[in-house]
Amino acid sequence: MKILVVCLGNICRSPLAHGIFNHEIRKRNLDWEVDSAGTANYHSGKAPDPRSIAEAKRNGLDISRQAARQLIAEDFIVYNHILVMDAMNYQNARSIAPTEELKQKVELIMNFADPGRNGQVPDPYWDDEGFSNVYNMLVRAVDGFISTQTEKA
Ligand code: 4NP
Repeated sequence: MKILVVCLGNICRSPLAHGIFNHEIRKRNLDWEVDSAGTANYHSGKAPDPRSIAEAKRNGLDISRQAARQLIAEDFIVYNHILVMDAMNYQNARSIAPTEELKQKVELIMNFADPGRNGQVPDPYWDDEGFSNVYNMLVRAVDGFISTQTEKA
């Protein structure tokens, strides 16, 4: 199983989801891979936002060595699931998909915590207080995703 978590800049939200997934994958001994990407390229090559690094660290995770990259068409072939944070990511990611069929790999990550509600992970970039809320939402989403996938297996 290969999972790609996607936000706008790949410096705030998806790096946290990436770190949470890595931690859970290792803890549960799953043969899964995870990466993250942004629909925009303006932070390509950069480490995560210092506030995301700090929020991860408060929760025992080190995400400081991640580097931002942009979502590309080939990702739709490589990854089984492309999990996005909000409606804008959803539309932008679908527009990058190389075929109509592959657009279906894009899913709102919060639907794995709260099925069918189309909940969105708010962009914390302009909100210093938003990072712990984002972290807690993503822990629920990752946990829900792993439950749905491992129950299926
Ligand atoms: P992210 O947050 O999509 O969670 O990484 C953002 C990071 C940067 C910008 C917007 C959102 N920006 O406008 O530079």
